[in-house]
Amino acid sequence: MTQGDIRPVMRIEALSFTTSWPPSAFASELSDNKLAHYFIGRVGDPRTGDVVAYGGIWVILEDSHITTIAVHPDFRGKRYGEELLVHLLHEAIERGASWITLEARESNVIAQNLYKKYGFTIVSTRRAYYSDNGENAVVMWAGHLRGDLYRNRLASLSRELDAAIERDR
Ligand SMILES: CC(C)(COP(=O)(O)OP(=O)(O)OC[C@H]1O[C@@H](n2cnc3c(N)ncnc32)[C@H](O)[C@@H]1OP(=O)(O)O)[C@@H](O)C(=O)NCCC(=O)NCCS
Repeated sequence: MTQGDIRPVMRIEALSFTTSWPPSAFASELSDNKLAHYFIGRVGDPRTGDVVAYGGIWVILEDSHITTIAVHPDFRGKRYGEELLVHLLHEAIERGASWITLEARESNVIAQNLYKKYGFTIVSTRRAYYSDNGENAVVMWAGHLRGDLYRNRLASLSRELDAAIERDR
């Protein structure tokens, strides 16, 4: 993600979250936060196609955190979210992370399913974490990212994902 991608990212953000980040939050993540790494997914031409997905992580030594991930509503269910998550996981591992966490709304079963597919489990609940409606957050975690077991699982799921994309898109 570059500063020039923030406008299309904001459109997806507004369609995806009840409390959205302001553009300045993305701008400062991109320019000021050395621990942050943000990516977009495009349809069609990899350089000029429309932005349909985005996501970001922070990597702090062995610790990593998925800060956001979203897909444009018109493109959901087509494995863009999964593709982005796989990219974030590879990025975290390459940058030295051994574990990864995130928060999700308790009601967000779709996102939780996606994360569970990649080995995340719910480790705790943060009561009334979301200020808009007082909803709880579940904290999800995956560990031993650099171990053979996780790397093999990720490689096998990535192969299945590539085959599904080839077949269905
Ligand atoms: C969560 C989100 C990123 C998923 O992206 P997506 O591109 O629609 O999902 P994919 O097509 O890649 O699906 C991957 C996996 O997600 C889960 N999933 C996707 N759609 C689902 C649905 N309708 N019902 C249940 N699980 C679903 C499944 O585990 C699926 O894998 P499977 O088909 O092998 O079971 C997307 O729904 C989104 O942007 N939601 C709004 C923003 C948001 O909630 N972000 C997460 C914040 S924690």
